[in-house]
Amino acid sequence: MAAHRLCFVCLGNICRSPTAEGVMRALVRDAGLASSVVIGSAGTGAWHVGELPDPRSRAAARARGLELTSKAQLFVHTDFDRFDYVLAMDLSNLETLQRMARTPRERSKIHLLRSFDVTAPAGAEVPDPYYGGPGGFDEVLDMCERACRGLLAHLRAHHELPHGSVDADAALTPA
Ligand code: 4NP
Repeated sequence: MAAHRLCFVCLGNICRSPTAEGVMRALVRDAGLASSVVIGSAGTGAWHVGELPDPRSRAAARARGLELTSKAQLFVHTDFDRFDYVLAMDLSNLETLQRMARTPRERSKIHLLRSFDVTAPAGAEVPDPYYGGPGGFDEVLDMCERACRGLLAHLRAHHELPHGSVDADAALTPA
């Protein structure tokens, strides 16, 4: 079966992982692959379940033409069955997910998102912007864009994807 189901995971599922979800949705759509890739996000903590992304994340994304519309969800064990790639934003999220995994197959689905950015050092994280200044939200977007472009290139290289009709390296375009 095609392995194109992606879940981005952070702590609250209101800042970083919804941003990565929105960025990846736009890249995949612009590449003409929206019907071939399933994209979701979740948090390892439940404080914000049901909420829209943080207004600061939404504003920073909107300034780049991206609307973040996901509702926060908790990552649960059965999500390992629903997704092929479980993409952690930081090392703490990674450890939490690794503790939840029960089989080598489940563990093999877990990756640090920025490991798909060839320009990022090993172990690079998307830092939590929640308690920081507004610049943190733009930085998260920059990191997510670079990593998600790398992730799309990885999916094209390692899995059978249709060729798509549009250049995936083009600038992100508004929805
Ligand atoms: P996120 O940011 O993990 O990028 O969604 C956070 C949002 C909320 C909290 C922590 C991190 N919180 O503790 O409520």
